[in-house]
Amino acid sequence: MKTILVTGGTGFIGANLCRRLIADGHRVICLDNNYTGSLENVQELQACPRFSFVKHDVIEPYDCPEKLDYIYNLACPASPPFYQGNRSIFTTKTCVFGIINMLELAKRDGARILQTSTSEVYGEPLVHPQPETYRGNVNPHGIRACYDEGKRCAESLMFDYHRHEGVDIRVIRIFNTYGPYMNPDDGRVVSNFICQALRGQDITIYGEGQQTRSFQYIDDLIEGMVRMMENEQGFTGPVNIGNPGEFTILQLAEQVLSKIPTTSKLVYRPLPGDDPTQRRPDITLADKELGWAPTINLDKGLDLTIAYFRRKLGL
Ligand SMILES: NC(=O)c1ccc[n+]([C@@H]2O[C@H](COP(=O)([O-])OP(=O)(O)OC[C@H]3O[C@@H](n4cnc5c(N)ncnc54)[C@H](O)[C@@H]3O)[C@@H](O)[C@H]2O)c1
Repeated sequence: MKTILVTGGTGFIGANLCRRLIADGHRVICLDNNYTGSLENVQELQACPRFSFVKHDVIEPYDCPEKLDYIYNLACPASPPFYQGNRSIFTTKTCVFGIINMLELAKRDGARILQTSTSEVYGEPLVHPQPETYRGNVNPHGIRACYDEGKRCAESLMFDYHRHEGVDIRVIRIFNTYGPYMNPDDGRVVSNFICQALRGQDITIYGEGQQTRSFQYIDDLIEGMVRMMENEQGFTGPVNIGNPGEFTILQLAEQVLSKIPTTSKLVYRPLPGDDPTQRRPDITLADKELGWAPTINLDKGLDLTIAYFRRKLGL
């Protein structure tokens, strides 16, 4: 049994990761300020004596009373409406001060730390699909920069603590992920389309819907995260964890509509600034180092996610 800190533990990915780690028999400390996460997401875990919740903001140092084996650092809003605008400075502080505070904790305890970086470090990619060796094309002063550059800076801090302080680090770059415990109203495309269709609201497409994304089901991501953390070969990454199946946003909308009988129609809105036109991971490295590849395709993943939102929304 390992003692594991999960920051951002009441969010979408965090709630799924906490469940997996508890099921694997570990002691889990779930830390969150509940900005975009919710205690409801970890409700039934609270009955388990190996699980506890700490309300804390990672911008402030955290003096954990227990000695940690692993830290999964997830704390950071991941949906543009929640990380941009008047939250943008908070987002950069969360990425940068947050990872410094967690790296200091890892150093104190000799713990292994995994950072959830993102495909956003590739910005508007000029190489397609994106291998980890591609250094990206990010606008450093656009409206997404607080997140993209915050995550890039966090990667650089991970490697500096590894080189200079000997911290055992793991960096994964997550591509667009969806599934149960997403917030129905936080503006991410898969949950948006499903919840709009279930509620009979119009489906909002930004631009002409020709931009592409690769959608990964949450269980595949969690398996990749655990394999990366438990890898004993000292593989630091960065490594892409995503599903290489590539779809236009319009194709996604049509697939959702084919699964949910609804009166919803497609409506088109202007494309937000710096929205990437294409995204697809090259996962050769994850396969080679972790023996990992996704197993759940969009069709099956959508069925599982629609079933979750039907229960959650009572529709
Ligand atoms: N979901 C994706 O497709 C995706 C893709 C790439 C990277 N990621 C990364 O994975 C991590 C989790 O993403 P998610 O999709 O679960 O998002 P989420 O918004 O559902 O979860 C983030 C969690 O972090 C918490 N949080 C935010 N700022 C905090 C702070 N300062 N202190 C403490 N807690 C804080 C939130 O309350 C929330 O519970 C994020 O770091 C995100 O950048 C996610």
